[in-house]
Amino acid sequence: MEDNQVLDRFEEMRELVNANLESIIEEQSSVFGEVAMVSGQIVLAGGKRIRPILAMLAYQLAGGDDLEEIIPLALSSEFIHSASLIHDDINDDSATRRGQEAIHVKVGQAKAIIAGDWLFSQGFGLGARYDEEVVEVVAHYCSILASAEFSQIDHVLDLSTSPEDYLEIVRGKTAGPFAAGCKGAALVANASAEKCEYLFEFGMELGIAFQLVDDLLDIRGDERMGKPRGSDIYEGKMTLPIIHALTILHGPQRVRFSEIIRNFEDSLFDELISLLNFGGSLNYSEILIRNHLERAISYLDHFEDCETKQLLKHVVNMVEKRHS
Ligand code: FPP
Ligand code: MG
Repeated sequence: MEDNQVLDRFEEMRELVNANLESIIEEQSSVFGEVAMVSGQIVLAGGKRIRPILAMLAYQLAGGDDLEEIIPLALSSEFIHSASLIHDDINDDSATRRGQEAIHVKVGQAKAIIAGDWLFSQGFGLGARYDEEVVEVVAHYCSILASAEFSQIDHVLDLSTSPEDYLEIVRGKTAGPFAAGCKGAALVANASAEKCEYLFEFGMELGIAFQLVDDLLDIRGDERMGKPRGSDIYEGKMTLPIIHALTILHGPQRVRFSEIIRNFEDSLFDELISLLNFGGSLNYSEILIRNHLERAISYLDHFEDCETKQLLKHVVNMVEKRHS
């Protein structure tokens, strides 16, 4: 398949996801009114749809041949993800999401919490249609997601946070849901246990790289993030470049770096970046991103070459290109 055909196929999948999401929100809004409309806004505000597309592609790579069969699971991942974003923005006190005012700013915190719950119920309703084994994988990784978020809160401005702590949070909050979506889809396709695990690991590696890129873009600033530059630093999040710099820098530089992240403001940005560059901390994250993406590709090597594999490699490229 030519590069432009890959892009077209990918766009078609995104449109299919969007069309399904739109029709569910419209249908549900006529039943549930305001809560569905408010919650629907966050789902329909945009987003890459990487989670549902991954589930659809994993299903096809695992041998599934009826896309309709996987669509509810794919959509379920987007509803659950959107639910978690509403709650995340309340916790992080973020005023913008996907370039728009966050729901809690628009309708107040109380309604926003309930909007998140409503979206979670929708995700649950769609995902619970499958066999117990599939539901268990999804439920398990939703629970791990919540546990990782607890841990992230405990590590706010904790300067002793280790790369292992960070990785565990990232595996829980981002990579686990990617991995669970891929594995769940492979189970729906009745793939062998081995293939299910390869797709699980593929999702895990891709998800780790995805979050590493996200954290790097937050520091570098990028309008695609749909939120102001440095949000993680303001929130006291211990992302990998910060953890790395705290390990590498010594003496007065480390003291200054700690002061900057504890009392961060826009005027300190240049100093923060120059200390991160001095420690090679942004490069370090870049190397790790490449490692995880290469590992993701290596799990695809267990599958025969086909169009779906090309599309999954395209997703890997998209994650890589976001940071370059
Ligand atoms: C974004 O992270 C947030 C998440 C990936 C998950 C948030 C999850 C919860 C609040 C728990 C919800 C639990 C369930 C079971 C649905 P970020 O703050 O690093 O990224 P951002 O910059 O996009 O806000
Ligand atoms: Mg956040």
